[in-house]
Amino acid sequence: MDKGVCEIFEVGPRDGLQNEAREIPVAEKVALVDLLSRAGFSRIEVASFVSPKWVPQMAGSGEVLTGIKRAEGVRYAALTPNMRGYEDAVAAKADEIAIFASASEGFSQKNINASIDEAFERFVPILEEARHVDMPVRGYVSCVIKCPYDGMIAPAQVAAVADRLFAMGCYEVSLGDTIGAGTPDSIAKMLLAVRDVVPVGRLAGHFHDTNGRAIDNIDASLSMGVRVFDAAVGGLGGCPFAPGAAGNVATEAVNAHLMALGYETGLDQALIEEAAAMARQMRNG
Ligand code: HMG
Ligand code: MG
Repeated sequence: MDKGVCEIFEVGPRDGLQNEAREIPVAEKVALVDLLSRAGFSRIEVASFVSPKWVPQMAGSGEVLTGIKRAEGVRYAALTPNMRGYEDAVAAKADEIAIFASASEGFSQKNINASIDEAFERFVPILEEARHVDMPVRGYVSCVIKCPYDGMIAPAQVAAVADRLFAMGCYEVSLGDTIGAGTPDSIAKMLLAVRDVVPVGRLAGHFHDTNGRAIDNIDASLSMGVRVFDAAVGGLGGCPFAPGAAGNVATEAVNAHLMALGYETGLDQALIEEAAAMARQMRNG
């Protein structure tokens, strides 16, 4: 039954909480991260250094990063769209950062007010600085199946953006089905194209569960060799700039599923469920 190791990258405190209507106090976010830190994750995305005018929910990111109890062996990650965000992430002692690009022009404009090429221009100095200080940089591609503005996205478009992120120095590229439009068939076709340009061991699946297909899409990705999946406890999430996007696939469901399939994740299911309950409570206030 032993199928080897799979990693879940917990994104709830960032991708999850960035979309909550309620203003969540920093202390609550810190409590959630501290609980997650005990569950066995090696990477947790906890912050986002973006404009507070665009995403007010992430305004306290610096305080979250400095307020948490850092567990040994856990890397605490932050999203950074530009140099300003990178500098704030470094000041708050993020262990790794993530840059994010879109496979579609429509979403790129709505999300970061820039074209795909302009986004990459902003990334160049970030990667240069990060290289000097050995800061790991992860890359996201959004809208890998469908864009809420441009419609269906060709696998070749996704591969082109993933290739650019990997070539510029991202150690891993996370493929975001931002609005949860993927099916096992469309995910497999997209992965076939991306695998040609980025080694499959450097890819992660980032599936939102709008249509209830995220676990099926994880299965399709597993069969293509992907072994890292982003997930959010309690199925929190969405994107303020992607209307209709539902939450990320729930960490507790992904972990239970992977364990049932015989993969080793190193996570404590009881603690994850406790964190999921806390996350759901945070949503309700
Ligand atoms: P802009 O308005 O085009 O750029 O924003 P700007 O450079 O003219 O800046 C405007 C204001 O923002 C200025 O302040 C800047 O100082 C400030 P003002 O002069 O008006 O007072 N500013 C910043 N403040 C804090 N931190 C910064 C920063 N940069 C500028 N880093 C910008 C461009 C990218 C900043 C903006 O569009 C933005 O913040 N967008 C938010 C994007 C975002 O967070 N989206 C959600 C995350 S992506 C996602 O969820 C998808 C993912 O999960 C994968 C998937 O599911 O597909 C990753
Ligand atoms: Mg997302």
